[in-house]
Amino acid sequence: MIVTTDALFRIAYGKYAVGAYNINNMEQALGLFQGNVKAEAPFIIQISKGARKYSGIPMIEAIIRAAEQLYPDAIYAVHLDHGDEATCHSCIDSGFYSSVMIDASHEPFDKNVEITRRVVEHAHSRGLSVEAELGMLGGVEEDIALDEKHAMLTDPDEAKLFVERSGCDSLAVAVGTSHGAYKFKGQQSLHFDRIEAIQKKLPNFPLVMHGSSSVPQEEVTRINAAGGKLDPSARGVDENEFKRAALLGVTKVNIDTDGRLVWTRVHREYFRDLPQEFDFRKPGTIFVEEYAKFIMHKAEKLGSAGQLPAVRKIVSK
Ligand code: G3H
Ligand code: 13P
Ligand code: ZN
Repeated sequence: MIVTTDALFRIAYGKYAVGAYNINNMEQALGLFQGNVKAEAPFIIQISKGARKYSGIPMIEAIIRAAEQLYPDAIYAVHLDHGDEATCHSCIDSGFYSSVMIDASHEPFDKNVEITRRVVEHAHSRGLSVEAELGMLGGVEEDIALDEKHAMLTDPDEAKLFVERSGCDSLAVAVGTSHGAYKFKGQQSLHFDRIEAIQKKLPNFPLVMHGSSSVPQEEVTRINAAGGKLDPSARGVDENEFKRAALLGVTKVNIDTDGRLVWTRVHREYFRDLPQEFDFRKPGTIFVEEYAKFIMHKAEKLGSAGQLPAVRKIVSK
C-alpha cells in the first residue's frame, strides 16, 4: 500500500526512523519489498534523477507497482531523491509520488527558500509533502578544528527560519554524515549535540539524515578479496546510533551506498568462484536474498522492525 510520507512521519516521529532506500532496478525492488515485509517495517522508496534516467520513468514506476502485487502487505511511500525544481514539478504532476525532495542546498539561503517555496506550493496543492535541504553535507574530517567542524553543520537558528519561510515538511540536515563510501577518516560519531539543538528549535518537525550508509568493513574486504579495488579506508555511519538520533527527531534515514556494496560483493564473488557461469539470474537471485537480509538488519537498527501492524491500523482507518 502506497501511503503519504507525511503519514509515516507522523507515526514514527520521536520513536523510530523510517529507512529510505534508493532503487534502480527490479532486483533491488524485490529485495527491498521482501526484506521490509519480513521485518514488518514501513519504508520509503527513493528514486533519484539518475535512477529515472537509468531505467526510464515508466519502467521504474512499473517495477514498483509490480513489486506491490508480489508483496501486498508492504506499506511504503515513494519519494523523489535530490530533485531539481523541474524534476520536482514533473514528479508532483505525475501522481505517482508521495513526496519530493527539492535540493537547492547549493544555492544561497534566500534563493534556496525561494525555490523550495515554489515546490512546496505546487506539492501541497496536490497533497504531497516536500523535503528540503539546508547545510553542506560533507565528510567532516577528524583533523580539522572543532569550530570549523561546527561551521559545516546545519545552524539551528537558520534551520528554524528556513522551515518557517519555505513551508517545507521535513528538512535534510548536516549533522556529520556524507554521501558515498568515503565519508570520513577514522571513527566518527553523529553530532548529537547539533541534532538536539535543531530539535529544540524545530520540535515535532521531521529531520532527515542523508549519507547514512554504514559502509561495513566486511563488505569492503570481501569485495576487494574478489577483485575489487575499493579504498580500504572507506568508512560509514555507525548504525547503532540511528535509534538515538530517531529519539531526537531524525525520522528518515537515507541509505543507498550500502545496497550497492551488497550488489558488488555478491556479483564479484559469484563470478570469481564460478568463472564459467554466464546466467545472470543466478547471482541476481542471490543478490535479492542478500539485499532482503540487509534490509531486515537495517530495520532492526532503525527501530522500524515490527511496526507494520501499528502503522496498518492507523493508515487503514
Ligand atoms: O544521494 C544520492 C543517492 O545515493 C542517489 O545516487 O544519483 O547516483 O542515483 P544517484
Ligand atoms: P549513502 O551514500 O550514505 O548511502 O546516502 C544515500 C543518500 O543520502 C541518498 O539520498
Ligand atoms: Zn542524499
